Amino acid sequence: MAKPKILVTHSLFEEARKLLDAACDAEYIADPERPARADVLRRLKDKEGLVCLLTEKVNEELLRAAPKLRIAANVAVGYDNIDVPACTKQGVVATNTPGVLDETTADFAWTLLMAVARRIGEGELLARSGNWKGWNLDQLCGTDVWGKTLGIVGFGRIGRAVARRALGFQMSVIYTDAVRAPEDKEKAVSAEFRDMNTLLAESDFISLHVPLLAETRGLFDGPKFYRMKPGAYLINTSRGPVVDEAALVAALENKKIAGAALDVYENEPFIHPGLKRPNVVLAPHLASASIETRTKMAVMAVTNVLGLFKGQRPPNMINPEVLKKA
Ligand code: GLV
Repeated sequence: MAKPKILVTHSLFEEARKLLDAACDAEYIADPERPARADVLRRLKDKEGLVCLLTEKVNEELLRAAPKLRIAANVAVGYDNIDVPACTKQGVVATNTPGVLDETTADFAWTLLMAVARRIGEGELLARSGNWKGWNLDQLCGTDVWGKTLGIVGFGRIGRAVARRALGFQMSVIYTDAVRAPEDKEKAVSAEFRDMNTLLAESDFISLHVPLLAETRGLFDGPKFYRMKPGAYLINTSRGPVVDEAALVAALENKKIAGAALDVYENEPFIHPGLKRPNVVLAPHLASASIETRTKMAVMAVTNVLGLFKGQRPPNMINPEVLKKA
């Protein structure tokens, strides 16, 4: 029997590639940066499966170019790049990679939080510059992290993993979410529920962990920054469009908040020039980027593809109704 034809828009780690190649006829786009959209669409013509990154829009245009497509496997937990209803309409299973990146992403949210609080970016520049004149009492003083209040917006797996780490810093942890979590989940990480406005007013650090949805697009806008505690910091490892970047720049310019640490941006890879200031730590969307976790994500995406072509249910279906209909 002919092996299913799969397009992979990016190189995969060896472990994932071996798994896929053993069961499928996989074509890889070797471009180290970003494959051209026209190339992706052209190559999809005869493909039954797609393994792609969050930078690939799986939308009606792509689906039209892929009449034989049965699965689109995103190598990411967030899937705002996928038009799920359009996939469902065309009978295409969409999958993501939940669970495997929670701890690594939480580590990175903390990396950013610590970096902005303790001014490590500025300190490193000074240390490398050759201009450092030695220890000085008031040099690059940041703000304490320990003992402060951490506000988590979005109390899912990643938000809770971020909260858990705060215990070691003797922080008070508060969270907000569309729905209050069950008590055992709150107790496990010693977090207390607050409505959004109370969280804004009480938090010294606010860390965002919501998916990008219609309801969360632009969630952090001018009025939210206005309500934040003076001297507070914003950390974003979720999705860029959750924050209104122009409003964030205005809040920084007007010193409404003390700083921000960002891994994600409204129009990646473009970064608003107003964010390039000393009290903002900028990272290029790295939160899940450990070799262990990125390998697990790739293997998970491939496992979803293999599952479908073995006639099983892919473990991480976003639109399981596609298979129910069949
Ligand atoms: C990365 O941003 C992901 O959604 O996995």
